[in-house]
Amino acid sequence: MSERIVIGLMSGTSLDGVDAACCRIRGDGNTGRDYDVSVESFVTCSYDSALRNRIETACTDEGTVAEVCSLNVALGTVFADAAAAAAAAANLDLEDVDAIGSHGQTVRHEPNPKSMPVGDDRLRSTLQIGDGSLIAERTGVTTIADFRTADIAVGGHGAPLVPFADLVLFADDESFRVAQNIGGIANCTALPPGSNPENVTAFDTGPGNMVIDGVVEQLTNGDQTYDRDGEIARIGTVSDAILSDALDEDYFRAEPPKSTGREQFGRTYAREFIATCRERDLPDEDIVATATALTARSIAEAYHRFLPQTPDEVVVSGGGAFNPTLVGMLDAELNAPVKTIDEYGIGADAKEAVAFALLAAAALDGVPNNVPSATGATRPVVMGKRCPPS
Ligand SMILES: Nc1ncnc2c1ncn2[C@@H]1O[C@H](COP(=O)(O)OP(=O)(O)O)[C@@H](O)[C@H]1O
Ligand SMILES: [Mg+2]
Repeated sequence: MSERIVIGLMSGTSLDGVDAACCRIRGDGNTGRDYDVSVESFVTCSYDSALRNRIETACTDEGTVAEVCSLNVALGTVFADAAAAAAAAANLDLEDVDAIGSHGQTVRHEPNPKSMPVGDDRLRSTLQIGDGSLIAERTGVTTIADFRTADIAVGGHGAPLVPFADLVLFADDESFRVAQNIGGIANCTALPPGSNPENVTAFDTGPGNMVIDGVVEQLTNGDQTYDRDGEIARIGTVSDAILSDALDEDYFRAEPPKSTGREQFGRTYAREFIATCRERDLPDEDIVATATALTARSIAEAYHRFLPQTPDEVVVSGGGAFNPTLVGMLDAELNAPVKTIDEYGIGADAKEAVAFALLAAAALDGVPNNVPSATGATRPVVMGKRCPPS
């Protein structure tokens, strides 16, 4: 069975930095998704506040094409450095690395297109930047990038993509598992016993850390960018009235497939959330507690609404797994054992980067790597564009 070293790169909607996982992947695609993966190293290269702000502004209506254009190149170099750091952390030379799979940085995701004056307005759109050719050139390693557009081209949302990896990592013959990632946005993959790409349910449940981060950042005037270890929320009291108003939102009721992002739960949402809380004289810690409860409750409600049964096990990953107040609230909301992904030998913050290593391996093998039941695509396709080094 062939064995490859593939580095997965992921920069999510939180804009905290780029994650790089150096993975040893066994399997060559001849047996479909039957890959076996071990994580040789994992590094996060944090963004400084100037870069974070540039990206965050590029994601808003104030973002200019000129800025997105230059960020595409700037991020390509940052991603190349992250790949080199992951190889070094695994005691490998870049020459030993067979491929890099890079998600890129989403600057726009429009799953519900408004009518457009020209072109085909039936298609959704999404844009991830951080040029793959530049990564390939700087590292000397074949890079697979720009995955989501191939799924969009066959009518899908281009999201979520991680269910492919969830199938590889967690599918079980007996138990009904749910993989719950809590990044900027939270998404779940429900894996019924003996699951396959036709019967998984996966969708974005709503905000993950994005509203918590946005609220903390605005309340502290930028001194803090997240609620470290859930310490602010832990001393706050949840406002049930504000929580139920916030949950009374079309996105939460919409049937899957569905996906969301910074467009809906970004800066503006956090600003309005704070304003609503202020009208009721909530102190800061209660605002953060209520934002945290919004994530936990929206996940639990999504399971009740859209999953065929109560999970036997929920496996939490993403930066939200490091927030004990959030995980505690989720545990209290759900009728199922909540574990973190560490119990499966993968660090909570590494999963999505590992997923992009697996997606890249499949792309190189010509194995379809979208999960149509998750994205709503009309058919399986091989996602990812191949950028060879010169
Ligand atoms: N120790 C911690 N305490 C509380 N929250 C944390 C902690 N570590 C990470 N996080 C949260 O996780 C987020 C990053 O999660 P991540 O999975 O990287 O999201 P994304 O994929 O969107 O970048 C941070 O913005 C923060 O909100
Ligand atoms: Mg991140």
